[in-house]
Amino acid sequence: MTPGLSPGALIACALRLGADRIAGWSAREAALARMATEVRSGTVRRLHEQIRSGEDPLGQAFIELRPPAARRELGATYTPAVIVNAMLAWAGGHVAPERVIDPGAGSGRFLLSAAGMFPEATLIGVEIDPLAALIARANLAAAGLAGRSHIAVCDYREFPLRSSVRTLFIGNPPYVRHHLIEARWKDWLAQGWRALGIRASRLAGLHVHFFLATLLGARTGDAGAFITAAEWLDVNYGAALRQGFLGDLGGQGIVAVEPAMTAFADAATTSAITMFRIGERAPRVRLRRLKSIVDAASLEGGHLVSRQRLERQSRWSQLLRGAGASSRARSCSRKAPVASGDLVELGELCRVHRGQATGANEVWIAAAQEACALPVNVLFPSVTRARELISAGRVLRSLERLRRVVDLPRDLDELESSARRPIEVFLRAARRRGAHRSYLARHRRAWWSVELRAPAPILATYMARRPPAFTRNVAGARHLNIAHGLYPRVALTEAQLMGLVDYLSTGVRVADGRTYAGGLTKFEPREMERLLVPRPEVLPA
Ligand SMILES: C[S@@+](CC[C@H](N)C(=O)[O-])C[C@H]1O[C@@H](n2cnc3c(N)ncnc32)[C@H](O)[C@@H]1O
Repeated sequence: MTPGLSPGALIACALRLGADRIAGWSAREAALARMATEVRSGTVRRLHEQIRSGEDPLGQAFIELRPPAARRELGATYTPAVIVNAMLAWAGGHVAPERVIDPGAGSGRFLLSAAGMFPEATLIGVEIDPLAALIARANLAAAGLAGRSHIAVCDYREFPLRSSVRTLFIGNPPYVRHHLIEARWKDWLAQGWRALGIRASRLAGLHVHFFLATLLGARTGDAGAFITAAEWLDVNYGAALRQGFLGDLGGQGIVAVEPAMTAFADAATTSAITMFRIGERAPRVRLRRLKSIVDAASLEGGHLVSRQRLERQSRWSQLLRGAGASSRARSCSRKAPVASGDLVELGELCRVHRGQATGANEVWIAAAQEACALPVNVLFPSVTRARELISAGRVLRSLERLRRVVDLPRDLDELESSARRPIEVFLRAARRRGAHRSYLARHRRAWWSVELRAPAPILATYMARRPPAFTRNVAGARHLNIAHGLYPRVALTEAQLMGLVDYLSTGVRVADGRTYAGGLTKFEPREMERLLVPRPEVLPA
């Protein structure tokens, strides 16, 4: 920390550290330079040492000098080193850039860190605030990077990005709400997205403008990582960016960063780190949630979500909810551990549907004598009690012990005439018992037609004083609403289905569901879909 630096002293220090040796010196900075005051050589020497050892004393002095309201107008919040380093570590594994661009460079934290990771790359910072630009220059000069650095003092949306060299875009684009954005830039935003075939709201914050400017200026093969406010994942104005992310931006992953761990001095909302490779449409996107500073060492890991799922969903943050430290608890198999990068949400592989409710089990679950009288093609052996799955174990091989559910076609004329008589008798008795008056019966297309779901390849209990039981339904049983059915969305082999049953049987703990009074644990279908399981390729193992 360098407390007590006046604006004049701060400018003087920046100049003494060599700010004007960095390419791109602007008239606005020259005007600032004329305000420099006297400064002691000892102060400059100490600053030099601090910068060389990785600190940012000038950036800190800038933050202290500028009142929060003034910084808010330009969205000036500087990024903690742990996040800068994690983002660069990701970039290091995914691109070998010839130049690195930091849009809204501030004091140059990303460029300084990128210098070590990419020793051959040109370092370019674009910054609209001349005092911040001057500080970024001083930092780069003090770190011995004058020969390969350039700072442009201008609006990022006006910077000529187009180039044939491979570029890494990395940084923390400013968060400024649309109320403070000029109408001409809102027009620019709408036109820019339109040129990409995307309809956009004009109400987007400045960070969305930065994404668009990047997308318009980048070329295939470029990559990037931006940390921004996470609200674009859900809100209406974020729809264009969500579409762009799945389109030409080439979104690869999103890591949500909890406010508690960012150490962003003045940000109280969740941030999102968005990783992209221009033009590369990944079939699956990696989602992760960071809850502690320890997790931030690497942005890899998390779980994979298919682009189709993201396309279908209008709010993405709920997909990130199960994707972090808590997801480890959800996936805690007592069997051989699966690498977190190999985990996907169960919902990626299977739809989970609750079984059908009859509205009057005493009528629709056939009593023995009815079962003798009714034709077999309206009687469906079904799982009607959770204990039937629990006692079956991992595989339900036989229908023998299951009760039959009467499921009649909506159009009774479909039945053969010989079947009509016993069914009419059954329906008259059902009416006498009031089955046609139940809420469900009144809301069915035909009160007599329960419309059981097709047999689910895997069945699961979801409400018991024990973890759910998962059973491979080889017998082809139907199920009532005491069980959930898992219906694969992707082709799974028999070995993979069994692998899934095995994994879920050992990996899901009671604590993962909702616990009701009395210790009852319940998994709603959507909650079950959020359980983490190995992706199909590693399932049989
Ligand atoms: C969130 S800060 C990030 C600073 C730095 N990259 C970091 O992460 O530590 C955003 C920066 O963008 C700058 N900025 C705001 N509007 C800008 C614009 N239209 N063009 C270029 N820079 C802008 C602000 O002055 C601020 O320094």
